[in-house]
Amino acid sequence: VTNSATASAPGKIIILGEHFVVHGSLAISAAINKRATVSVSATSEGDAIISSRGNSSRLQMDDGRFRAVKAVLKESFRELNLPGKGLKIEIESEIPPGSGLGSSAAVCVATAGALLRHFDRKVDRESVSRLANRGEASVHGNPSGVDVATSLNGGTILFEKTSGVSEIKADPTIEFLVVFTGLERNTSDLVQKVSKVKENFPSYFSNLSESISKACVLGKKALETGDLETLGALMNLTQTSLSWIGTSNSSIESLIEKINKIGHCHGSKLTGAGGGGSVIALPEITNAKKIASEISKEYPDAFLTNIRQEGLRIEQ
Ligand code: MEV
Repeated sequence: VTNSATASAPGKIIILGEHFVVHGSLAISAAINKRATVSVSATSEGDAIISSRGNSSRLQMDDGRFRAVKAVLKESFRELNLPGKGLKIEIESEIPPGSGLGSSAAVCVATAGALLRHFDRKVDRESVSRLANRGEASVHGNPSGVDVATSLNGGTILFEKTSGVSEIKADPTIEFLVVFTGLERNTSDLVQKVSKVKENFPSYFSNLSESISKACVLGKKALETGDLETLGALMNLTQTSLSWIGTSNSSIESLIEKINKIGHCHGSKLTGAGGGGSVIALPEITNAKKIASEISKEYPDAFLTNIRQEGLRIEQ
């Protein structure tokens, strides 16, 4: 057992394929330049205590706080055969919760990494992924696993629920603009809503799923070759499908309209669960900073990120 262990993990954007990925299609996602950091240390207090930005909660307390982290902790203690007492878990995150940028997955991945490190266990991908996905499943019933896979792996990935991760060597000059609508959303509700659409329109839904997978195959190539025009067109195309299955809304669409008005972007779409959350746009490389500063006037948290960020990192 170490005195204390710290790990960090990035948030993510889904470039193509959210929601459909839950039902078996391909998706492309990437780690972003905002991270969650989790420290685990011993304390003389009895229970395990979780804290973040002045909020704290005990592991055994059912107060609705830190649900995902608690699930990761409980599963870790069970798997590693540990008493799970006298621990302090401190969370610091740059990823706004409810923004569709994978904050809960990043916190779960960093927690699993720091815990394994603290107890001198091997921090291997399989263990971290299993533990972190426990946390994700506790907050949203039917996760595809794409958020955890992206945060853990880092970089840009092609993801499929059953076959998992394959890395994409994205052109290093590519940058995405990420803008939070300011409207927090609930992933679980949106995933359920989409399942209803699938139930009511099975053949239409399966056609769409198939075309999303095809878009991902083309998108992978466009990312590797830096073909932003094609990538942007694919983003616009999938936004239409996401809107049809009911995951877009007026806060997303008016933001997309504003981005279109500014111009100099190859494409834009919601990212993640939708229903609010964040929008991503693919700016022309030479105009990226200008567009970001323009949109920041109304959305001060807008930021640019490349898509070659590091995944889980053990900090100490
Ligand atoms: C959320 O980031 C992505 C969704 O596709 C849900 C999932 O894959 O678990 C909406």
